[in-house]
Amino acid sequence: MPISEKKLRSNPAWIKRHINDPFVKQSVKDGYRARSAYKLIELDDKDKIIKPGMKVVDLGAAPGSWSQVVKQRLTNPKTGEVEGRIIAMDILEMEPIEGVNFLQGDFREQDVADALEELLEGEKVDVVLSDMAANLSGVAVADAARCLLLNELALDFAKENLKPNGTFVCKVFQGSGFSQYVEVCKKTFRKVVVRKPEASRTTSAEVYLLCRILK
Ligand SMILES: C[S@@+](CC[C@H](N)C(=O)[O-])C[C@H]1O[C@@H](n2cnc3c(N)ncnc32)[C@H](O)[C@@H]1O
Repeated sequence: MPISEKKLRSNPAWIKRHINDPFVKQSVKDGYRARSAYKLIELDDKDKIIKPGMKVVDLGAAPGSWSQVVKQRLTNPKTGEVEGRIIAMDILEMEPIEGVNFLQGDFREQDVADALEELLEGEKVDVVLSDMAANLSGVAVADAARCLLLNELALDFAKENLKPNGTFVCKVFQGSGFSQYVEVCKKTFRKVVVRKPEASRTTSAEVYLLCRILK
């Protein structure tokens, strides 16, 4: 179960580890907004998820490092043009990224779903990414339930918005309900694999499910 972000960030040990983290240092050099960029880079290098011409939704996108990576991966190396579409969604504000449409709001709300539909003009997308994390209360049982519910709703969102051969990437915390969630994903998609990128801390229970081709 993840510890609340707020609690972590006020902890001197966390601050020290953050400053010394090689992925944090690298992200500053590379101009990424967060170290989590390297998780998506590793996933995409290995599994070739994002290609120029695709439409991609980035759920829980702020501060925006995954959207930065998606933009790079949609760039045609020959022309330097971004080919495709990126729609980033988050409850929080996000600094704009040129070429990325940002929808602020809770993806579970109808008005946000309507705004997305309008942006996509009713079309489906190739990839749904979810690096979302629920706001945690510190009460373990309640927090586990919140994370699971968020994952289930992200899966519903993916089913609703993906093309039949689309890909869903979802951050999941190993723990209560994890194996059941993997089973539901396996019933929904033809191929489901669990990935733990190097940039994902070994102390964190998070893993990423890579789900391909809707059944
Ligand atoms: C770990 S951060 C994502 C980091 C991002 N992938 C990056 O690389 O910059 C998780 C985000 O999920 C967002 N989030 C959580 N629940 C959400 C919801 N119901 N709808 C939209 N965004 C949500 C949070 O606001 C937070 O910004």
